[in-house]
Amino acid sequence: MGRTRVRGIELEWSEGGAGGGDVVLFLHGFPFDRTLWAPQLAALPAGWRGVAPDLRGFGGSDRPAERAYPMEQHAADMVALLDALGVERAVVCGLSMGGYIALALQRAAPARVRALVLADTRAEPDTAEARAQRAEQAAAIERDGAGAFLEGMLPKLLADGAPAEVRTAVQRMMHGTAPETLVRALHGLAERPDARPALPAIAVPTLVIGGSEDRITPPDVLRALADAIPGARLELIDGVGHVANLEAERAFNDALHAFLQALRD
Ligand code: MLT
Repeated sequence: MGRTRVRGIELEWSEGGAGGGDVVLFLHGFPFDRTLWAPQLAALPAGWRGVAPDLRGFGGSDRPAERAYPMEQHAADMVALLDALGVERAVVCGLSMGGYIALALQRAAPARVRALVLADTRAEPDTAEARAQRAEQAAAIERDGAGAFLEGMLPKLLADGAPAEVRTAVQRMMHGTAPETLVRALHGLAERPDARPALPAIAVPTLVIGGSEDRITPPDVLRALADAIPGARLELIDGVGHVANLEAERAFNDALHAFLQALRD
């Protein structure tokens, strides 16, 4: 585990693998933390180093009292973390909110991105309806606590047949997220911009990956994302929901490793 001060806050991160300059930066989704990526950090191919931070507000990282945690701010934190770790360019792998942040990082600092892995994510902004729902959810959490919000979210996250230990791991991450972080993240998610205009200019190898049973970012959304990025590959994992890397860690790792290997060929 590491703890590094960047942009006025302390970020905690886990590390896996070994190796020199070949780094994968893993960005977790909402409302998770860096332990989301434990199965990937534990099984990186030889020569690759993985870094999985807790994003601002999450896990063991600082939780500055800000109204919102915008995607651009997380992306700036990640560039600062790469600076602090002496990493020039990384493969950036983000799941869902982590994918929104990966795209924000790509827009803000394309020279720092060697390749993209976009898992169970989308480029579209929230609809007006989704924004209104997030505002209601944030208000309800402030008023009544996080219980009802988290209970309502869990069934949308996992495929019906998801293993019990995956369900437990997801619940632990969700319930470990501070209510004030949920509120600030909901505002940041609702305010994220439309990432679609920048997709045709992405010039790094890109893997779009996700579950065929994902209810939050279904296959059509993933297909549209892959179609809009020049040369991107789409990998759908059968029978798996929104947390594909945990629900099907073997299939996810196989696809990730093949992608990383191809970067070296
Ligand atoms: C996530 O998994 O990060 C969230 O589902 C993202 C979102 O709510 O848009």
